[in-house]
Amino acid sequence: MSEIKQSMTEYAAAHPKLKYSFFGGKGGVGKTVMAGVTALHLAQQGKRTMLASTNPVHSLSGLLDQNVYGKPTAVNGVPNLWAYEIDTKETIERSKQDIKQKIRWFLKFAEISTQADSFVESATMNPAFEESAMFENMVDLMFKNEYDAYVFDTAPTANARRLLGMSKVYSLWVNKMVKSRQEAQSLRELFSFTKKKEADPLMDYLLSFRERISHARELLTDPAQTAFFFVTLPEALPIAVIKRFINWFRDFGIPVGGVVVNMVIQKDQVRPDSPEFVRNRVAMQDSYMQEIWRDFDNVRAIIPLFDNEVRGTAALKMVADHAFPQTVGAR
Ligand SMILES: Nc1ncnc2c1ncn2[C@@H]1O[C@H](COP(=O)(O)OP(=O)(O)OP(=O)(O)O)[C@@H](O)[C@H]1O
Ligand SMILES: [Mg+2]
Repeated sequence: MSEIKQSMTEYAAAHPKLKYSFFGGKGGVGKTVMAGVTALHLAQQGKRTMLASTNPVHSLSGLLDQNVYGKPTAVNGVPNLWAYEIDTKETIERSKQDIKQKIRWFLKFAEISTQADSFVESATMNPAFEESAMFENMVDLMFKNEYDAYVFDTAPTANARRLLGMSKVYSLWVNKMVKSRQEAQSLRELFSFTKKKEADPLMDYLLSFRERISHARELLTDPAQTAFFFVTLPEALPIAVIKRFINWFRDFGIPVGGVVVNMVIQKDQVRPDSPEFVRNRVAMQDSYMQEIWRDFDNVRAIIPLFDNEVRGTAALKMVADHAFPQTVGAR
């Protein structure tokens, strides 16, 4: 029972078109490390790979020991790998300007003579605005389609799920908007003397936005191209968190790639005379490992707890030997 049925390597081999990988899980469980390791593996397979972070609290530069903020940057010493911490502040500023312009159009269209500024403030001063800016950044990068594979180091997963859930909400909302715009348009045409069709930038925007969102959903729900992996530790809370996430994601029709168990103390390092603290922790991990084998049928890798943090590409390569073992997993 307690064995990996399909390893990360085998999953990747079985999904040759895998293009968008995501990592979710409770804070601090190793999502950034696993994103880095997976990107490294894909790059080593010869895929031009982008490791990107949309999280305003970036950690890729720290992981790689190299500044990758603000623009796609070739990772030193790793052919085919680029990393990019996306500047969310700039996007948020840009989206604010964008929204301002759209609100102006709208007020003009509705013949309301009010300053747009107060509307803009209320539209952009909420936390969802930052998330939607992050989502837009991610989608931009995906649509540019300049790489063979993308690995996203997402924000803690509640956000990731909301980000994707939002695409559903977005399209519902946009459909409603388009419908009411169409009604308004036809009323206008009915009452106007000239029959010439007015330009409607807002409608054009909504239509292209709807197109964009539905395309993003298509990509993100395609199990050939997209996989969400969940990282946990052999401990109660991280396990509970990913159980919840996996259910949410299945409800949203987002492909779940599998589970990675991180920071597992290696048994061969522990002897009967090892300190009690270590033996107790191993016993605790053992019992949660049983729960993991019982409740997840998609464990893809077990990563040992190392005696040091994982920093720099040499450390990532060492973790990759465990996450993507070439000999065990290779067909
Ligand atoms: N197997 C491991 N052995 C030892 N240290 C590890 C291991 N995996 C990760 N770490 C270290 O644990 C810390 C947390 O890892 P990481 O930053 O990848 O977690 P995260 O889930 O991305 O955190 P956050 O939720 O803050 O984004 C880092 O210092 C990392 O180097
Ligand atoms: Mg992280």
